[in-house]
Amino acid sequence: MAYKILQKQELIPGQTSLLVIDAPQIASKAKPGNFVILRIDEKGERVPLTIADKDPEAGTITIVFLVVGKSSAQLNALQQGDEILDVCGPLGKPTHIEKHDTVICVGGGTGIAAMHHIAKGHHEAGNHVVAIIGARSKDLLLFECELDGFCPEVLVATDDGSVGHKGFVTDLLQKRLEEDKSVGEVVAIGPVPMMEAVARVTKPFGVKTTVSLNSIMVDGIGMCGACRCTVGGETKFACVDGPEFDGQKVDFNELKARLWQFRDQEQESMEHYKK
Ligand code: FES
Repeated sequence: MAYKILQKQELIPGQTSLLVIDAPQIASKAKPGNFVILRIDEKGERVPLTIADKDPEAGTITIVFLVVGKSSAQLNALQQGDEILDVCGPLGKPTHIEKHDTVICVGGGTGIAAMHHIAKGHHEAGNHVVAIIGARSKDLLLFECELDGFCPEVLVATDDGSVGHKGFVTDLLQKRLEEDKSVGEVVAIGPVPMMEAVARVTKPFGVKTTVSLNSIMVDGIGMCGACRCTVGGETKFACVDGPEFDGQKVDFNELKARLWQFRDQEQESMEHYKK
């Protein structure tokens, strides 16, 4: 069974796109924090992508992806009406949502879209959700309107100051934690250095910190070991034990080294694809 693309939107032309995919079974079961693994065609790489939103009534899921290599470039070449060979999911453990007075959800880059589904889950549980989102500049900021729809507060940081605070999401987080003692949890999704910096900021405050790891994945069901990471000194598989873990316990240096280990091959594959 192939999966039809019902809607495609280039959020940042040539760089980040959103797809609404017809996947009723996945939409009926997907929970915040879940992801899918898709394969464009028979020879396609298996690409893990967090579910940014779902609409069980319409039978759709929404994914947002950054064009970083050959597979994402191929995915970005698809248009509304085209089909994806397989979409496997929902995978991973759903977000553990507890009742807190306030939850801060931090998102950076494409991670903002993934964070959106989790923030929604916290909102639906009755938590006061403060979204802190960041990008290099205003044009690269995603999902601000969507988050505005249900988050009572959306704080923005851009590197160049084109909108919101000029600086990093961690500056806003630090200030908020100093002023607001009602924060029960901080959730961070985005580039690894951002999640690492968030965990560094929250540590002195002793606030529960959850990060979502974007490890390299192959099967997504705990068999291949490609997504292994070290959390609290123990080996975990991001696909079945996560993807969310305690940010204070993740070995971020190992995660970065593992994420970059195939960079040369990825570049070669992209150059070959462009020819
Ligand atoms: Fe294979 Fe997680 S992707 S074990």
